[in-house]
Amino acid sequence: MISSLRGMRDLVEDDAKRFLYCIKVCEEIAQRYDFSFIQTPLLEESLLFKRSVGQSSDIVGKEMYDFCDKSGNEISLRPEGTAGVVRAFIQKKYDKVGGVKKFYYHGAMFRYERPQKGRFRQFHQFGVECFGEQSAYEDINIIIMLKQILDTLGIKTKILINSLGCPKCMPPYKETLVKFLQNLDLCEDCQRRILTNPIRVLDCKNSSCQAKLKDAPKITHNLCKNCHDDFLIVQKGLRDNNIDFIIDTNLVRGLDYYSKTAFEFVSDEIGSQGSIAGGGRYDKLVEILGGKDTFGIGFAIGVDRLLELIKMPEDEKQGYYLSALCDEALEKIIEISVKLRKTKKVKLSYEIKSLKAHLKKADKQNALWFGCIGDDELKKEVIWLKNLVTKEEKQISLKDFCE
Ligand code: HAM
Repeated sequence: MISSLRGMRDLVEDDAKRFLYCIKVCEEIAQRYDFSFIQTPLLEESLLFKRSVGQSSDIVGKEMYDFCDKSGNEISLRPEGTAGVVRAFIQKKYDKVGGVKKFYYHGAMFRYERPQKGRFRQFHQFGVECFGEQSAYEDINIIIMLKQILDTLGIKTKILINSLGCPKCMPPYKETLVKFLQNLDLCEDCQRRILTNPIRVLDCKNSSCQAKLKDAPKITHNLCKNCHDDFLIVQKGLRDNNIDFIIDTNLVRGLDYYSKTAFEFVSDEIGSQGSIAGGGRYDKLVEILGGKDTFGIGFAIGVDRLLELIKMPEDEKQGYYLSALCDEALEKIIEISVKLRKTKKVKLSYEIKSLKAHLKKADKQNALWFGCIGDDELKKEVIWLKNLVTKEEKQISLKDFCE
């Protein structure tokens, strides 16, 4: 038997239902906030991710599915969605037009990580990206929208926020931080990060490193006036809208493109991989990828991590279950189903069984209406119907039924 690859899985039955429900809720809410659908390719030039997600990130450094295609191009399966959307935004020349553009997407992402509960090598993200909006009120809007999605799905999370500054205040902060870090005895990963991207040291998972970082200088104490004021606006906006949050000055996110507001929604109900969704501003990314300077902000939800937490609405009985009680009625049933399926959900049984056996199956399959045709109905050109909720029974002419 050939099995699926490690860290990649099939979604069927209940999981598949939950998956579709989750995407439906995300799409409906994103559209209410005026985001429109964008689809980008699964494969991109590796350089796109190296430049955007960053050479120093774990994603580019260790986790990319990268290879050469038959023409020798270096390509990668996308590890996240933002880079591709930004590339498409620039390629379609939206940066030259100006104004605000809002996109949502969902699809498979690939990271060669060590698989464990909630962590897969192929996983599904639902994400949104908003371009051209400088106002910190959009940051509030984006966080409220993500909260609304998770509330609708019945998922409780903690919201962590931070500000990662801008090209004016982040470089001097990094210098101050490096001076502090150089005197500490930190793990090997941290030593490497001091050289590549020192703020990543702050979210080291090693508890002995964390103990030594207690007195590290905080970015929120080193923001320039503009970043500081915007961070206050975001906090006030969340409070005004009754959204609880925690300021986590160690929240640096694993991707290099962020500036200003960064946030993560975490759950303590799904084990160690508690990050349900994350995002933030990336005001320099469009320029870094060769476009005209354009503000950007977005988030992505890890759909796989939601599946076991979603509270699904009760399955309602719906549609028809049609059956035949004699061979001659079978063709009639098929003919009717073709007409009915133009507007209604219809399940068909090709087996000739007793009324009782058919009824039992219809009930099991959650049909709202049961319909059957036997010799008698065939002669009279009628169908016998039963509503499986109200138990009402009736015979109606086939002509009326199909109309
Ligand atoms: P990210 O934090 O790398 O951000 O991923 C977002 C979410 O994807 C995570 O919170 C998590 O739920 C899910 N996720 C990540 N890796 C895995 C995995 N191996 N298995 C299962 N789920 C996973 C981004 O990807 C950014 N592009 C988000 C963004 C959009 N920022 C701005 N716009």
